[in-house]
Amino acid sequence: MDTIAGTLVTYQMYIDGRWVDSVSSQHFESHNPYTGKPWALIPRGGAEDVDRAVRAARKAFTTGEWPKLTPSKRGALLRKLGDLIADKSGFLAEIEVRDNGKLFAEMSAQTAYMAQWYYYYGGLADKIEGAVIPLDKPDTFNYTRHEPLGVIGAIIPWNSPLLLTAWKLAPALAAGNTIVVKPSEFASASMLEFMKLVEQAGFPAGVVNVVTGFGPEAGTPLVEHPLVAKIAFTGSDATGRKIYEAAARGLKRVSMELGGKSPNIVFDDAEIDNAVKGAISGIFAATGQTCIAGSRLLVQQSIHDRFVEKLVAFAKTAKMGDPMSLDTQVGPVTNLPQYNKVLNYIDIAKSEGVQTVLGGGKATRPECGDGWFVEPTIFTAVKNSMRIAQEEVFGPVLAVIPFKDEEDAIAIGNDVVFGLAAGVWTQNMRRAFLMAERLQAGTVWVNTYRAVSYLSPFGGYKRSGLGRENGQEMIKEYLQTKSVWISTAKEVPNPFVMR
Ligand code: NAI
Ligand code: MG
Repeated sequence: MDTIAGTLVTYQMYIDGRWVDSVSSQHFESHNPYTGKPWALIPRGGAEDVDRAVRAARKAFTTGEWPKLTPSKRGALLRKLGDLIADKSGFLAEIEVRDNGKLFAEMSAQTAYMAQWYYYYGGLADKIEGAVIPLDKPDTFNYTRHEPLGVIGAIIPWNSPLLLTAWKLAPALAAGNTIVVKPSEFASASMLEFMKLVEQAGFPAGVVNVVTGFGPEAGTPLVEHPLVAKIAFTGSDATGRKIYEAAARGLKRVSMELGGKSPNIVFDDAEIDNAVKGAISGIFAATGQTCIAGSRLLVQQSIHDRFVEKLVAFAKTAKMGDPMSLDTQVGPVTNLPQYNKVLNYIDIAKSEGVQTVLGGGKATRPECGDGWFVEPTIFTAVKNSMRIAQEEVFGPVLAVIPFKDEEDAIAIGNDVVFGLAAGVWTQNMRRAFLMAERLQAGTVWVNTYRAVSYLSPFGGYKRSGLGRENGQEMIKEYLQTKSVWISTAKEVPNPFVMR
C-alpha cells in the first residue's frame, strides 16, 4: 500500500495470480467511517472480470500444479499462509479499521486469531479419509473418495471481512477447491492486502482470486456463473434469499449465514454484574454490527427495573471516538446507508411506543467528529411483536423485553424468524441445560456471549442460514463423495438384472 498524504490509495484486483484493473478501468471510493471521507479507490469489477476469475479458478482446479499437490503439501501451504497472517495481523487490522471503523482492539485480535483457521484446516487437509465398505455382495470391492467440488464463490460482508473469509477459504482450500472471493463494496481493501500474503505463501495462480465491486454488478455474475459449484455467503437475509434463488437455477450448493435477532436472556438468579457485561457485549461491542448481536435482551420481571438501571449506568460510561485508539469502546457505524438504516430503526421503535432509557439518536459528542456515530441506545417497554424486536437493525440499539418464567423466556426467545444465537444468564444448572435444549439457535452461550472458535460449529437455525462453518465436520461442506465399485468376479453375471 502506498500512502501519499492527501491522495487516495489505488488498489488492483487479484485474478489468476496477477494484479489487474477491472475490464472497465473504473474504480469506486472506499470511505473511512471515522472521518466520513474516502481514503481508497477500489476496482469496480463486473461480469467480464468475474468470468476471467472463474475461468482462472476452474483452470487451476483441473490443470497445473494445484490438483497435483499432495494433501500434505496443500496443508503446508495453508500453514505457511497462517504464519504470514500472524506476522502481518496488526497491519491487516489497521486496514480493516480504516474501512469498517470497528475497534482496532477487536480487529487486531480477530486478524491474529484468524491464523488458527489456516493452521487447523491446513492440518485437516491430509486427514480426509474415505472408507472401505463391507459390501453385502460377493466379489466386489467398494470404497469412497471425498473429492473437492471445484470453483467456490465466496461473498463476504463488511463487518469482519478477513475472519469471515477464513471460515470459507481455509476449509475450501484444504479440501482441494479453488475460489473466487467477492468482498463487500464497503470494505474491500483488507482482502486485497491479504491477497499479497496468499501470493507470498506460494499458492499457484488461479487458486485464490478476488473480484471487487458491487453486489448486483460483481456478486450476481459470480452466483450465476455456470462454472461455479458452490456459493458460500455471509450477509443479510434479504441478499441471502436472492442468492439462494439464483443458485437454485444452476442447482448450486450454498452455505449461508444470514444474521439474526438473538435473545440474550437474564434470569433473576444470574450473577448480575456479569450479566450486565454480557448484555453490553451482546449489543454495543462492534457497535452492534455483528450477526450474533444479542439485540433482544430478555430480563426476568422480578429484576427488570434494577437490572436496566445497572445496564444504563454501565452503558453510559462507554467511550466513543477514534476506533484506532485502544481505549475507545464504541466506534462509528460502517457506512452511510447503514448509519441511516440504524437511525431509521430508532425512529420506528419510538413510533411503536417504546421507552428510550439511553441514547436514541446520532452521537454529537466532540470526539465523534464527522464520523457516522450513533449513541448507544436502550429501549424498554418493548413488545416482542414490534418491528424493533423482530428485524435485524445491525447497530447499537437494544430492545429490552420482560419475561415471567422459563416457559415465557423460551416462547419469547423463539418467537422470531431467526435462530443464529442465544445467551442465557443463570447460576442454576438444570435451567442452563433446559434453555440450551429448548432455544432454537445454532449457538447457545451460557454465562458468556459472543465467543467463536475454529473448533466449534457455527451457523443458523431457521432463517439465519443453511449449513455450518468451523469445526472438523465442516470440511465436508466443501467435498462430495464418490462411491467406487470394483468387481473381482471372473465372469459378468446375467446382464439383464440389477446387481
Ligand atoms: P448484503 O448482504 O447486501 O451484502 C453482503 C455481500 O453480498 C456484499 O459483498 C455484497 O456486495 C453482496 N451482494 C449484495 N447483493 C448481491 C446480489 N444480488 N448477488 C450477489 N451478491 C450480492 O449486506 P450489506 O448491503 O452490506 O448490508 C445490508 C444489511 O445486511 C445490514 O444492514 C445488516 O443488517 C445486514 N448484514 C448482516 C451481516 C451478517 O453478518 N449477518 C453482515 C453485513 C450486513
Ligand atoms: Mg469503507
